Amino acid sequence: MAGLCEGRVVIVTGAGRGLGRAHALAFAAEGAKVVVNDLGVGLDGLPGPDGPAARVAAEIEALGGAAVAHGGDIATSKGAASLVATAVDTFGRLDTLVNNAGFLRDRMLVNLDEDDWDAVMRVHLKGHFLPLRSAAAWWRAEAKAGRPVAARVVNTSSGAGLLGSVGQGNYSAAKAGILALTAVAAQEMGPYGVQVNAIAPAARTRMTERTFAETMAAPEAGGFDAMAPENVSPLVVWLGADASAGVTGRVFETEGGRITVMEGWRPGPTADRGARRTPAEAGKAALELLAAAQAPLPVYGAR
Ligand SMILES: NC(=O)c1ccc[n+]([C@@H]2O[C@H](COP(=O)([O-])OP(=O)(O)OC[C@H]3O[C@@H](n4cnc5c(N)ncnc54)[C@H](O)[C@@H]3O)[C@@H](O)[C@H]2O)c1
Repeated sequence: MAGLCEGRVVIVTGAGRGLGRAHALAFAAEGAKVVVNDLGVGLDGLPGPDGPAARVAAEIEALGGAAVAHGGDIATSKGAASLVATAVDTFGRLDTLVNNAGFLRDRMLVNLDEDDWDAVMRVHLKGHFLPLRSAAAWWRAEAKAGRPVAARVVNTSSGAGLLGSVGQGNYSAAKAGILALTAVAAQEMGPYGVQVNAIAPAARTRMTERTFAETMAAPEAGGFDAMAPENVSPLVVWLGADASAGVTGRVFETEGGRITVMEGWRPGPTADRGARRTPAEAGKAALELLAAAQAPLPVYGAR
């Protein structure tokens, strides 16, 4: 039986380990040719010891699939451009971009260094924008040349981006930014045949295995290992395939066997008086509206 991604060329950033590796293997299992990107950095983004992208590419090839490793930094214009060029030069085209690479520098805001703010905003938010821009330019050129485009982008946000997470102000802001970027990209790229969606995953990787050790642990007695990263990949593969035609600008939470469509900001109680209020009147109106509004879902880690 033909795979869901037969003939498609797929880039996965940060695919040397964790969720990205699981996505890359899952795409290959559905017939895709995969560009496995990973800079091979430590959990804090500082230089790491090895080249995990080449290892995962070799793993895919050993299973009979097609893959090429790319070791560039996706948060630089040069790295992002060479990433798309690697897909096109090696496999002749690009169909799907999965933005996944990233790292953490967790601190309470009062202790958060400017460098740690910049590094996390850079790798997640800019690290989504730059590959997206390079891929979008290639797809727009294809569309303008009259060749059919059925391209897909899957961005990686987080529960931290949806609700906020204590001790992760930089990460939460970057991941929330990715949600807005997804909505805009879906609108801008739709006319060229590009769909853009986002996921907020949860899985056991080096990013989570210590902080959330208990939640993430594999069941000792065997059975369904809900927090295995491989459980997130099926939705990513479907969103990255032709089969998801018509789905764009949406956000899904996905972990274990659960998939949830996230419904975003929408107006709650509202009052228009048709004239300017004094601050005291604005406060009175705000309190009345809040009394009628739903309470927000709690921020992760809120006491
Ligand atoms: N694990 C979870 O539960 C969870 C939850 C929410 C969101 N996420 C997000 O999922 C994505 C994958 O996380 P993971 O848990 O698999 O982490 P991970 O640390 O296992 O993998 C991330 C990979 O990205 C690579 N990377 C970092 N900076 C890079 C750069 N500039 N260029 C190229 N590669 C780079 C790292 O070398 C690493 O291999 C991240 O965006 C993360 O924020 C994960």
